Amino acid sequence: MSSHDDIAAVRDQLLARYETLETKSDILKSAELKQLFGKIPSLPPAERGAFGQAINQLSNELKEKVAADAHAANELPAIDVTAPFDTNASKPDLLPSQHGTIHPLTQEIAKLSDIFGRMGYVVEQSREIDDQYHMFEALNFPKGHPARDDYDTFMTEEKDTDGEPFVAPAHTSTMQNRILKKYKQNLADGEAIAAIVPDRVFRNEDLDARHEHTFYQLEGIYVAKGVHAGMLIATLQKFLEEYYGKKLDVRVNPFYFPFTEPSFEFALSCPFCEGKDDSCKVCSGEGWVELLGCGMIHPNVLKAADIDPNEYTGFAFGCGIDRLVMMKHQIEDVRHFESAKLDFLRQF
Ligand code: DAH
Repeated sequence: MSSHDDIAAVRDQLLARYETLETKSDILKSAELKQLFGKIPSLPPAERGAFGQAINQLSNELKEKVAADAHAANELPAIDVTAPFDTNASKPDLLPSQHGTIHPLTQEIAKLSDIFGRMGYVVEQSREIDDQYHMFEALNFPKGHPARDDYDTFMTEEKDTDGEPFVAPAHTSTMQNRILKKYKQNLADGEAIAAIVPDRVFRNEDLDARHEHTFYQLEGIYVAKGVHAGMLIATLQKFLEEYYGKKLDVRVNPFYFPFTEPSFEFALSCPFCEGKDDSCKVCSGEGWVELLGCGMIHPNVLKAADIDPNEYTGFAFGCGIDRLVMMKHQIEDVRHFESAKLDFLRQF
């Protein structure tokens, strides 16, 4: 009998026994499987590879069976087949047999967090209501600063103890001051402060295919001794290449933000047409897509967290997540994300 006949015979035995087992995963611990694996060293070297593969195949087949049964037994809620439900064809979304899916932005945020996690960044969350200090003052926009108006910030009627309205954060930069304070000890320990905040922001804007009142931003900050703008650009380029899975050119132009000096606007070569298609919808045929703002953290922002700007420097960036994802999946209208349209959401 050839070694492969052995495997076929064991397979028949195990499949028959499987049906009788109370605890299905016991099949994976069966003595027969172990014996098959134990046989490998006694075979002529030329046969070992194929034999090993055949056993693995059997072992995987059993694992899949166990997993599928566990899923059926544990994960699907018991369904009362006698309960009435609405089969009205005009409301197919209400059928209880349909599963939900993870929102595409949630899926992509997990990927972004994973990429930065591998680069040593911690992930922090933002808030849904904040104060003017974190929205503006701590970021070097003093009271009356004209750039405050650029943010179309929703404000509450209720006032805080300084008599100022609260805000719905219009950028994730609101978390910079808190992160700098929270991780300041890293600097004393000779380590960097490295954090991202992928979270939701709000702006009182006119809505169209590119503007939504609720969207997501990825804020990043990095502070240590000797940090310079080359590190900022290399970090962003690496991140975007990981995210889009290809080499990309980047373009950096001077810009203005109160909380960075110098500040830059960062564009990347269109990941779709790479500048080769005049009618490309993603870059409007320009070959470049303006993607984010960034710069070297302004000394006043470091001072607001009691960090000495003569000793430490850092960079920060803020990127629209919806935009990143729209480019990745060629989504033409940002409003789909918040639309709760299941036909849209189920594609991801
Ligand atoms: N907060 C800015 C915005 O929403 C984006 C931004 C620009 C964040 C530059 C940064 C930065 O951290 O350095 O428009």
